Amino acid sequence: MKWTILLCFLSVSIALPAQQPTHPHLQKQGNAVQLMVNGKPFLVLGGELGNSSASDLEYMKPIWPKLVDMNLNTVLVPVYWELIEPKEGVYDFALLDSIIMAARKHNLKLIILWFGSWKNSMSCYVPAWIKKDVKRFPRAQDKLGRGQEILTAFNKNNLDADIKVFGALMTHIRESDRDEHTILMIQVENEIGMLPEARDYHPAASEAFSQNVPQSLMTYLQKNKSSLSPHILQLWQTNGFKSGGSWEEVFGKGLATDEIFVAWHFAQFANRVTEAGKKIYPLPMFVNAALNRPNVKPGDYPSGGPLPHIIDIWKAAAPSVDFLSPDFYNPDFKYWNDLYTRKDNPLFIPEIRFDPSVAGKVFYAIGHYQAIGFAPFSIESTEHPREEPIARSYEVLEQLSPIICANQGKNTMNGFMVDKIGSSDTIKLGGYTFIVKHDYTLGWSPKAKEDQWPLTGGLIIQIGEDEFIFAGTGIVVTFSSDEPDHPLAGILNIEEGRFVNGKWLPGRRMNGDQSHQGRHLRFPVGEYGIQKLRLYRYR
Ligand code: DGJ
Repeated sequence: MKWTILLCFLSVSIALPAQQPTHPHLQKQGNAVQLMVNGKPFLVLGGELGNSSASDLEYMKPIWPKLVDMNLNTVLVPVYWELIEPKEGVYDFALLDSIIMAARKHNLKLIILWFGSWKNSMSCYVPAWIKKDVKRFPRAQDKLGRGQEILTAFNKNNLDADIKVFGALMTHIRESDRDEHTILMIQVENEIGMLPEARDYHPAASEAFSQNVPQSLMTYLQKNKSSLSPHILQLWQTNGFKSGGSWEEVFGKGLATDEIFVAWHFAQFANRVTEAGKKIYPLPMFVNAALNRPNVKPGDYPSGGPLPHIIDIWKAAAPSVDFLSPDFYNPDFKYWNDLYTRKDNPLFIPEIRFDPSVAGKVFYAIGHYQAIGFAPFSIESTEHPREEPIARSYEVLEQLSPIICANQGKNTMNGFMVDKIGSSDTIKLGGYTFIVKHDYTLGWSPKAKEDQWPLTGGLIIQIGEDEFIFAGTGIVVTFSSDEPDHPLAGILNIEEGRFVNGKWLPGRRMNGDQSHQGRHLRFPVGEYGIQKLRLYRYR
């Protein structure tokens, strides 16, 4: 911003720094995207509530202390359309207000899940006055013309109704939270996707299907040809890289094209809702996906959701949506995260099956992918919150949060994850090579059966020349130098310690048995901590 001041007939131009938004927003740092809250980057150490918990304040009462005991800083909470607009145009935000107050009381932030038109494909949270008026609010149809309990995306009344209530919600959030910033982000809808067919067969959908692929999508494909997802590129290529035509002319006939078509329309719908909400209060907004499985056809899984093989369709149709997120109930954590982060799409994991492996996976997500945050699903389901492995990981990550955020996007941080014999991770950082193995690979470790090895993990941050922070659980790390003249690396020393208000407080010196007399750095299985490692090179 430039202000011109006329002073004693002299014209002076003063360059002022661009004003940062005061509300939570996303900001780039190097090759990472950070969530900025009250002027500082914020790492979401979260958990998502089971679907029904936040609909009852009494039910929530014993849950709040559990969340605190698990060291969460954020909870992902649904807002249910039917409860905020029980009668058309009559809004009731009392429940949401109480949830916000309770979150503040427990020093927790919130991410709102908008259970609007779609929740796991279905329209189960739309109000009764919508459900019962099929004529005004039509449903998606299968091939036989049978209505589904899914609002069709091909109808203006449906879109307008969602835009209207979402606008009321965002107005309310703006009015009630603009000073406190308890609410950090909004997930728009939940696991959008068409079932049980690959596309909607409502007459309006079939009419849209007979039209040409929109010019804006063709332009996107041409502009991004070199980086398209292999799936889209292959379909377009097989059909002759046409510069226009019907959906079937451009992508061929079949379920894959049906999915692309419905994805475009779902994404446009989500974009319109997002855009309208952001006009009122521009919090970061994202969509989440039910991941598909190999050899399952679109329609058997929610077709057209924000999935990596059709990420280009979502990016082209939904520019107002800040990012696409995976929900993990599948194996292959690395595989899916690699796909989600390929397209400049920051990683945020709003749901992951709440099992003990999340304690290792969270280190990998944050260290390797610079994730904005992480949230196991149905987080309140534990009976022993303090003993949960995720509570121990979050305790460590909370201490490290400022240093993690300072290093995001700067190629000075990485993560690792190991789970069974033979699996190891190799990391190159600061002129050293680090080999990370499972703690149980040590000869003297307890002899657990191979398939019972807990998944473990950690992260590394370079904090100076030859100086590194390690954090994690159940890993053993060895090192070598990348300098040909001095190929060996030795430990100068290892300190265990804690960060208190961002300041390092050293604890035990670990140069003896704890590092096998200088041979490795180790966090035994079941222990969670931080160690500072100083290396030197020799020959
Ligand atoms: C994924 C959905 O997004 C959640 O709301 C919930 O239904 C879980 N699946 C249940 O596993």
